[in-house]
Amino acid sequence: MKTQWITGLAIVLVLSLAAGSVWAGEKECPPPDAEEVWEWVTESDPYQGWGYWPEHDGMYPGQSPHGAYLKLYANSIALKALREGKQMPPGSMIMKANYGKDKETLMALTPMYKVEGYNPEAGNWFWAKYKPDGEVEASGKVEGCIDCHRAQKDNDWIFTSTEPE
Ligand code: HEC
Repeated sequence: MKTQWITGLAIVLVLSLAAGSVWAGEKECPPPDAEEVWEWVTESDPYQGWGYWPEHDGMYPGQSPHGAYLKLYANSIALKALREGKQMPPGSMIMKANYGKDKETLMALTPMYKVEGYNPEAGNWFWAKYKPDGEVEASGKVEGCIDCHRAQKDNDWIFTSTEPE
């Protein structure tokens, strides 16, 4: 009787752990939806707490059409892939904070978020542009973003190198 009870307890424990990790996984990676992604990067896992892009610590001058100055953050999934020189897996997120000429005014946030099977023709990236207060200016398979980033198609649609400038 006692072993049955212990087996039963073990099964319940394993099941609840499994359910917990599924839940945690869902929480970690939102669907390609502008509102949910915003909540994720400002509340669940605020982007300011991620690491900077390798060799791009802090603020640096940007190119048109992005801000005059930029900060480029990557979440832990993206950073791990970058450090290992691997293709970014689903769940990877790159957050670009675009600043004005005064280096202080945040103008816009333009993330790229990798979602499995979302848009195979364009690297499975979900693109978005937010105002600093979270207002969505564009999101999804944004043509403008894709058309320009297409120049980097062979580099997973990414311009910035991980090597020192
Ligand atoms: C006209 C070209 C152009 C358009 C349009 C454009 N980008 Fe970019 N993007 C760049 C260039 C060039 C860089 C690298 C230099 C820089 O950061 O200024 C870049 C860098 C980035 C990065 C950092 C990773 C990387 O590729 O280096 C992100 C994230 C990003 N863009 C997101 C977006 C999003 C989201 C949109 C649409 C809302 C967008 N971009 C539209 C040219 C463009």
